[in-house]
Parts: sequence; structure tokens; C-alpha cells
Amino acid sequence: MKAIAVKPKTKNSAHLVEMNKPKVSDVKGGKGVLVEVLRVGACGTDREINAGEYGVAPEGFDFLVLGHENFGRVVEIGENVKDLAKGDFVVATVRRPFGHSIYDTIGQQDFTTDSEYWERGISRLHGYMAEFYVESEDFLIKIPPKISEVAVMLEPLSIIEKGLKQAEDIQKRLDIWQPKTAAVLGTGNVGLLTVLALRLRGFEVHGFGLQEPKGYLNADLCKEIGATYDSTKQLSVKDSVEKYGEYDLIFECTGYSPIIFEAMESLNENGILILASVTGGTRKTDGVESDKINQEFVLGNRAMVGTVNANREHFEMGVNDIALAEAMYTGWLAKMMTHKIEGLENFEKAFDILENSGKYSAIKTYFEVAKI
Ligand code: BGC
Repeated sequence: MKAIAVKPKTKNSAHLVEMNKPKVSDVKGGKGVLVEVLRVGACGTDREINAGEYGVAPEGFDFLVLGHENFGRVVEIGENVKDLAKGDFVVATVRRPFGHSIYDTIGQQDFTTDSEYWERGISRLHGYMAEFYVESEDFLIKIPPKISEVAVMLEPLSIIEKGLKQAEDIQKRLDIWQPKTAAVLGTGNVGLLTVLALRLRGFEVHGFGLQEPKGYLNADLCKEIGATYDSTKQLSVKDSVEKYGEYDLIFECTGYSPIIFEAMESLNENGILILASVTGGTRKTDGVESDKINQEFVLGNRAMVGTVNANREHFEMGVNDIALAEAMYTGWLAKMMTHKIEGLENFEKAFDILENSGKYSAIKTYFEVAKI
């Protein structure tokens, strides 16, 4: 079978590889599920791995099959698979509990304290940019057929679901927390999904991006579901509090770390800031008003939390939210799926779009590997 692989830590090394089709028996205990990949998303993480910034090949390989945003159909199951059948649609989670930390042992590998981690398509495990993959049913989420057209958005949405769940859990420190307003920093694929998740929860949502609103699909999509959109070139996050008030919740997903300090200054008392950008660079920020920020955090009981990856429960929350989104804002998610690449062999096109997403006005780029 065909797959798209990279030579980790080597710039622009994406290439096609021919591999053996995996077998259900590759997973021990009869719990293996063979999945035909139907769609696989391409995102900033794939772009950064192809730029040689990170990525680790599995043991015994000098290449890593890319891809973690996935959607497929079950074609064969092992004898002990209970909850899935041939023909079911599934999305697989990304991280596996192969570390040594207590969190891996209890199945909360998304909270591992190990510095090494096992993530399909990212680190030490081959990913889903392939025609087939095999996985234990423990890591597969069943997808209702009615949301199959947009289910490739589930993996990126799961990251947001985890972030929001962390915020909710942390805010249980307050006997009453009735957040009303939220700011979402960054309105790319992840940012827009965050705007959606917060609108579904009834927040007044303010999205911020770099581009000016006119003719910007992402801005239109914010407005279509009742959120605002502002370009930070016209209104900084810090200045926006004069217009919208301080935010009860801020979700950061720009990839631009200096903005987190502005976010810290724009939070309401008892508010929470969620950080979700994996900023792999070496940027430093001058001119941070650290005394003021620190004092405000202390005097206002403000909180800030970093969040990465997602576990089964967050994918399941995401399935519910996609179903609700399709009911409340029918067709909105499909509008985010702007760039379809037919066939894995056209991977160069996908990377061109990822590297020039502004020029292409791309929100979600994905491969159609086989028809639904
Ligand atoms: C993936 C996560 C992963 C993170 C860090 C993100 O793009 O969606 O599942 O944990 O990258 O590797």
C-alpha cells in the first residue's frame, strides 16, 4: 500500500513509500481493527515535521509515515473486538500509553510526564497518511454515519475539547463560575473550531486573527455563527477589552507566543487562559509588564493552563459537538474543509497549500484517500 513518509529532522523530505498492508493480527489479543483510510487532514504539525523541526521515526525505520487527523472505515476485525463491526466509520486517537509515567499506566497518556511520547504520525509511531492502518479497538472512536462528511475535523476538535474540559475542571475551584465572554486568539483551523465549540456552549465569542476581515472567509465564518472577528492589526487584544470588556475565558491558538502576555492582561477576575500552541521556535518577548501581570493574576485569582493532545473522552465530546454543530449551524463545518487533495500521491500539492495557506485562502487541507 501507498503512504506518505518523511525522513525526520530533514527539511522537505516528504515522499511516497510502498509498505505492506497491515494485518489485524499485528495487534495482540484479537483486538486489532483494520481500517481503510478515507480522509486524512494535513495541518501545521505535518508542515513543521516536513520542515525538519521535529518528528521521530519508529524503532527500526528511517522514515515516519505522517498523518494524525484521520477518518476511515472498518474493513476487518479481530476475534475479540466487541464494539466495532465491518463497515463502521471510525476516527483513531493519536497518543499511545507506551511511556513509563503513572499517567501512561492509567490510560491518561495525554498527561504523560515523560519527555518522550508516542504519537501516530508525529513521534515513534507511523501515522494515517496511508491507504490502511491497524489499531486496537481501544483507540478507535465510532463515528455516526450522519457526520461522516466532516468527521475528519474530529481530531483537531478533540484538542479544543480537552482544553475546555481542563478549564471547566480547574474552574470547579469556584463554587459559581458563569462565564459569558470568550476571546479566541487565532482563527485558522483550530481557532475556528474553538469559536464553534464556545458558541455551542453559549459564550459571546470574539475571534482575533491577523488578516483584515474584508473578503476573509475565516472572518465570515466567525460572524456566521454569531461571533465577532477583529484583525489585531486594527484592534489589539489588549485594546479590545475597552470594546468587549475583559474576557472570562481566552483560548490561545495563534502559534505566536508574544500574544500570551496581552491575553494575560485581558482576562477578567477569576478568568482562565488556555494555551494550546506548540511554539517550537526560539522567540523572546521584550517589554512584558511582568509586575502588573503578576499582580493582576494574584489579586484577581486568574488562572492559566497549557494543554496538549486529547484522550478518548475528548474525542467523544467532539463527536457530540460535531453532531450539535450540524444541527445548529448546518453546513458550517463543511465550509471549513476548503482544500481537498485527491490521492496520497498528490502530497506535494498539500504541502504547497500548507506553506502558503494565505495565498490559497485555505482553512482545512485534507486528502481524500478513498471515497466515503
Ligand atoms: C496533535 C496532537 C499532538 C500535538 C503534539 C498536534 O498537532 O493534534 O495530538 O499531541 O500535535 O505533538
